[in-house]
Amino acid sequence: MIRTATPGDAAAVVDLVVAAGMFTSEEAGAVEGMLADHFAGDGGHVCVVDDDGGVRGVAYYQPEPAADRVWDLTMIAVHPDRQGRGRGTAMLRHVEEDLRARDQRLLLVDTSGSPQYDRTRAFYRRCAYEEEARVRDYWEAGDDLVVFRKDLRRPSD
Ligand SMILES: CC(C)(COP(=O)(O)OP(=O)(O)OC[C@H]1O[C@@H](n2cnc3c(N)ncnc32)[C@H](O)[C@@H]1OP(=O)(O)O)[C@@H](O)C(=O)NCCC(=O)NCCS
Repeated sequence: MIRTATPGDAAAVVDLVVAAGMFTSEEAGAVEGMLADHFAGDGGHVCVVDDDGGVRGVAYYQPEPAADRVWDLTMIAVHPDRQGRGRGTAMLRHVEEDLRARDQRLLLVDTSGSPQYDRTRAFYRRCAYEEEARVRDYWEAGDDLVVFRKDLRRPSD
């Protein structure tokens, strides 16, 4: 089941994103702070995959304040013991449907061009995202920023 996150999910979400390798345990405090800002009302949305009471996936998306109806997928992760079974795709579809229902235009995703993220980039392509931009050496020397884009006004794909 995909549902909106509540403040009670924060600890499970932090554990999940650390387990998925998106953040180190040293960075967990920063994720907690980001979620606290969210629950205080940052204008973004967080949804979770709830498998029989356990949080096994999370997606966090926020509006780009200076652009017309453009959103950024700040974070998406599925617990390693559930990856590759459709949960990430289902969450992304859920996010897109939510934004389409509110007449939003574009969803952007920042990721890495490094080999470690080969499967992540394959995931976005498989979900019909287009590679839109690349900033060389962005994350660090030799690790490019890759921006994927989906036009939400096109018939759903
Ligand atoms: C990327 C991620 C959210 C995808 O969710 P998922 O539930 O594993 O993906 P789905 O089952 O819906 O889709 C499977 C497709 O995703 C891709 N994929 C990416 N990472 C994968 C993984 N660890 N295991 C299996 N498939 C993965 C493959 O292209 C796969 O297609 P295939 O079966 O034809 O090879 C998830 O694997 C994850 O949390 N990865 C680690 C964190 C991360 O990279 N987050 C995104 C940062 S920008």
